[in-house]
Amino acid sequence: MMIPLIVSTFIHLVFIFAAVSCEKDSIYDILKAHGLPMGLLPKGISRFDIDDTGRFEVHLDQACNAKFESQLHFDTNVSGTLSYGQIGALSGIAAQELFLWFPVKGIGVDVPSSGLIYFDVGVVVKQLPLSMFETPKDCMAVGDFESGDSIPDDDLLAESIAKSIRETWT
Ligand SMILES: *[C@@H]1O[C@H](CO)[C@@H](O)[C@H](O)[C@H]1NC(C)=O
Repeated sequence: MMIPLIVSTFIHLVFIFAAVSCEKDSIYDILKAHGLPMGLLPKGISRFDIDDTGRFEVHLDQACNAKFESQLHFDTNVSGTLSYGQIGALSGIAAQELFLWFPVKGIGVDVPSSGLIYFDVGVVVKQLPLSMFETPKDCMAVGDFESGDSIPDDDLLAESIAKSIRETWT
C-alpha cells in the first residue's frame, strides 16, 4: 500500500512542478504560486523568463510609474530571484520616498501572512498593507532611470536624506 502512495505522490509533485514552471502561466500566476500578491508587477506584462532556481527577468513595453501609497517605478527590465514569500537580488524597481527614488533591493511577506508586505530599500525596510497589491495596476509610461541620475547612489544618500529632513523642518 505504501509504494503506490509514494509513487502517486511523486507523480503529483512532478505535475505541480511542471505546472509552476510552465511558460503558459502568467507572471502574475507565478507570483501567486510563490505566496506573493499579483499587484507587485503592473498590468500588461507578457514577456518574462524564469529558470528553475527562481531567477526571473520581466520585460515591460516601457518604463513606467504606478501609484500605490507612494509611487513605484518599474524599468523596462526587472529581474530578481523568486522564492516562496520573497524576491531577492531585485533590480529595476524603485520606490519614491521624501521625493527621492530608492532602488528596491528585496520584497517579502510573512509566512503565514500577517497582511503586511515589506520593501527593502537599503536604508530602511518599508512596510505596507498587502491588500494594496492585490491586483496589477495601470502604469504611466516614463523614461528608464539612468544609474546615478534620479536614484541617489550610496554616497549621496545620507546627504540627500539630511537635506530633505532639513527642508522639511526649517
Ligand atoms: C532589457 O533586456 C533585453 C533582453 O535581455 C535587452 O536586449 C535590453 O537591452 C534590455 N534593456 C535595458 C534598458 O536594459
